[in-house]
Amino acid sequence: MKILVVGNSARAHIIVETLKKSRHEPEIFAFMSAKNPGIIRVASDYEIGKLDDTDAIVEFAKSAEVDFAFISPELPLSAGVVDALAAVGVASVGPVKVLAGLECSKSFVRELMHEYDLPGGPRFKVFGSIDGVEEFIESLSDTGYVLKPDGLTGGKGVKVSGEHVNSMDDALDYCREVIATHGRVVIEEKFVGEEFSLQSFVDGKSVCDMPCVQDHKRAFAGDTGPNTGGMGSYSGAEGLPFLSKKDVDDAHAITVAVMNAMFEKYGKYYKGIMYGGFIATKDGVKLIEYNARLGDPEAMNVLTVLKTDLVDICRGIIEGTLGSIDVEFDCKATVCKYIVPSGYPDNPRSGDTVDVSGVGAGAKVYFASVDEVEGKLVMSSSRALALVGVADCISDAERVVEDGCAQVRGDVRYRSDIGTDALVLKRVEHMREVLGE
Ligand code: GLY
Repeated sequence: MKILVVGNSARAHIIVETLKKSRHEPEIFAFMSAKNPGIIRVASDYEIGKLDDTDAIVEFAKSAEVDFAFISPELPLSAGVVDALAAVGVASVGPVKVLAGLECSKSFVRELMHEYDLPGGPRFKVFGSIDGVEEFIESLSDTGYVLKPDGLTGGKGVKVSGEHVNSMDDALDYCREVIATHGRVVIEEKFVGEEFSLQSFVDGKSVCDMPCVQDHKRAFAGDTGPNTGGMGSYSGAEGLPFLSKKDVDDAHAITVAVMNAMFEKYGKYYKGIMYGGFIATKDGVKLIEYNARLGDPEAMNVLTVLKTDLVDICRGIIEGTLGSIDVEFDCKATVCKYIVPSGYPDNPRSGDTVDVSGVGAGAKVYFASVDEVEGKLVMSSSRALALVGVADCISDAERVVEDGCAQVRGDVRYRSDIGTDALVLKRVEHMREVLGE
């Protein structure tokens, strides 16, 4: 069996390693925008190119004669790589272009949920001009508001009132900028509560959930500083400590309803990952957004504890037989922490070496934005390495990953608070406060 993996982040690295563990003993072919030394070590062959160059990806898939493709990031999905591969007979784990709108257009899911009268959405409006923006923002004065460019922004374009925007003038300026750059801005009611990621394998007919994960987007300890791609994440052995079973069931129900609505509206099965960014509020679980791929860092949490053969799951997604597969996860907690270059995210250093040779067997290391030059790992300006600890409880998993991070040598930093008892307790207390308990 031959599998093409598109992508080169730590998420792609763990996807490749998890596929490689399969009893089907697949050969991996990687299409990357930059070399990932972890992926290169296990791949039979690789090609470097632009991740939205669908022609180059298709040519590589054809020359490698792959059985199927697993698309890791959103960029190739938004460029229509799944449709292009399908045209030459290569099926993918990843949605076709129109359904990748789930992530690539922020208005897609809001309008879909409104049209099919699905629960879990905010009050919202989509604007293609500044007319009416001020009035709508004023109408959200009871909750505050969120401004979202209607397109891909690498997770950094969303602005929240009271956090990134503090006056009507700032809000209007930002909306004008977004309308100029993205054509449309989505303005939504702001939700207050605790956020969580529920990622699901989806074949268009069935939804298999992965364990819930909580990501940490802010750059610095105590959830301060600018937003990043994600500095780290944790999952519990028996769920997240601030979530009830009903919260998770409600999030699952939203994903099922959105999947069904996509089929009804577009007549195409969604095949791949639906990663819901949810928030537990005093009024129940609400949807912040969907992504059409695994989360990064959340992929590290869930794939680390996946017991079922990932190749079987991929085939289930592609063949539409996911419902007959018993997808299982180890009952373990995980904590993932990203090692980033000094100065990240605003003024990151680039070109420094980082040494992971001292990281013992405890924490697993996944490569992100690092290259291997003369036997040394050299960082670029983005997140460099994801370290993951697994144990029976979050506390112990945190200690495992913390021991690993402490052994990484170089001009780097990471968030030492992620997964600690103190931060997890803060989340639980915040949830109690939100619920008025
Ligand atoms: N965890 C953030 C993302 O993957 O977009």
